[in-house]
Amino acid sequence: MKLIFLGPPGAGKGTLAVKAVDILGIPHISTGAIFRQAIAAGSPLGLKVKAIIDAGKLVDDETTIELVRERLARDDAQKGYILDGFPRTIPQAETLAAFSAVDKVVNFDIPDSAVLERLGGRRVCRKCGYNFHTVFDKPAKEGTCDHCGGEVYTRDDDRPEAIQKRLEVYRAQTAPLIDFYRQKGLLLDVDARPAVDRVTENFKRSLGL
Ligand code: AP5
Repeated sequence: MKLIFLGPPGAGKGTLAVKAVDILGIPHISTGAIFRQAIAAGSPLGLKVKAIIDAGKLVDDETTIELVRERLARDDAQKGYILDGFPRTIPQAETLAAFSAVDKVVNFDIPDSAVLERLGGRRVCRKCGYNFHTVFDKPAKEGTCDHCGGEVYTRDDDRPEAIQKRLEVYRAQTAPLIDFYRQKGLLLDVDARPAVDRVTENFKRSLGL
């Protein structure tokens, strides 16, 4: 199954993707995670995108599309994938349609108030990328990942001014994809407000699982 996870920053896309990988047995491909790995490695891509991401803006379409095209060409993505954070603009969606046909687009339905609460408390493992939360999902030992022992930190783009910018960018450039995919009959709306287990159930039900 080829899926897109679409929704505002902090809607819980990455968190549900971890569950969905277990349920569906397909890879989770997060463009944000790929960019963060490149930044951590200090690669040319990382150097190019760091300031853009920290400011809450979008990386240019050409760079992002090329990265996804290469990733989807790998063997593990031939049986299906979960694209998390891509596409984020109409040109990205149109280009994707030209090289891969998605089966469904899962739209994370959530108000801004919940998004702000989730992003404000998010803490991330630097090593394995697991998303913790200061209220909803705390690591047993503060600052240390329960899953791999890595350092738990606050993402640079989770500062209040970057969060505001990301929400503006989402509304202007990414939210139009909701109608784009609805008109194609691909959109599944999932109520993303409840706790993770309930959202996982909503997701399974929407796919008829
Ligand atoms: P990216 O990493 O994709 O960021 P995002 O879309 O802003 O999404 P987030 O990772 O912030 O949120 P999420 O929905 O995954 O929420 P999460 O599960 O962590 O992109 C980062 C940047 O890279 C972009 O700003 C851009 O610059 C660049 N980029 C990436 N893709 C691009 C593209 N296609 N084009 C151009 N540029 C691109 O959950 C959030 C928190 O809530 C966590 O703490 C979690 O524990 C908690 N939580 C999750 N679910 C629940 C729940 N049900 N109940 C309670 N708490 C919950």
